Amino acid sequence: MKYCTKTKYLKKLFITFEGIDRSGKSTQAQKLYKYLKRRKEKVILVREPGGTIISEKIRDILLDKTNKKMFSLTEFLLFSASRHQLTEEIIKPKLKAGYYVICDRYYDSSTAYQGYGGKINTKIIETINKIATTNLKPDISFLIDIDVKERQRRLILSGRGKDRMEAKDISYHKKVISGFRKIARANKKRFRIIDGAKDKEVIHEEIKKTIKI
Ligand code: TYD
Repeated sequence: MKYCTKTKYLKKLFITFEGIDRSGKSTQAQKLYKYLKRRKEKVILVREPGGTIISEKIRDILLDKTNKKMFSLTEFLLFSASRHQLTEEIIKPKLKAGYYVICDRYYDSSTAYQGYGGKINTKIIETINKIATTNLKPDISFLIDIDVKERQRRLILSGRGKDRMEAKDISYHKKVISGFRKIARANKKRFRIIDGAKDKEVIHEEIKKTIKI
């Protein structure tokens, strides 16, 4: 737990999970949430895009497969709008109230998907990420890392239909995966890269050790 002198409140941890779809990051976010709950900690788990009524509506637009005409910048601004609402409505108030906040994806997903995948200029991504989050940064971010082959294997295994983002082609997802790796390497203090091919219980133990709760 950290004491935030600027804002004069006891700040617990803001923890984010990042990675390509099917990496298992949502499973890990839930496992950590349940673990902290069992320990009677104040904790919430939210997801992006979504997490508030307004953000969930934006999510529906973003993931709707029939929205074929969406421009990259429209997509990025919608993710950012959803993020801003979630940040102001839920994340910041909960951190102020001393909660652990676990977020399944945050602005690093925009850098990886819309930046590295969608080719939106890095400077634009950085600037709007800062605006959308009002400069809030996670304390710890876990990158659950799998390669594109493993993603394809898991996609076929699950047999589930694809949403608008998942339906983008393999070369897009390759860029997103390598983008995530670059982001994690460039932010070594905040990021922990975890091999997503490992057993989920082993990964959970690694995460608990890192959090040290
Ligand atoms: P979701 O069903 O939550 O999938 P996942 O389990 O992979 O998180 O869908 C979210 C999709 O939106 C996912 O394909 C990643 C994408 N995304 C972006 O492209 N940019 C972003 O900033 C965020 C938060 C998500």
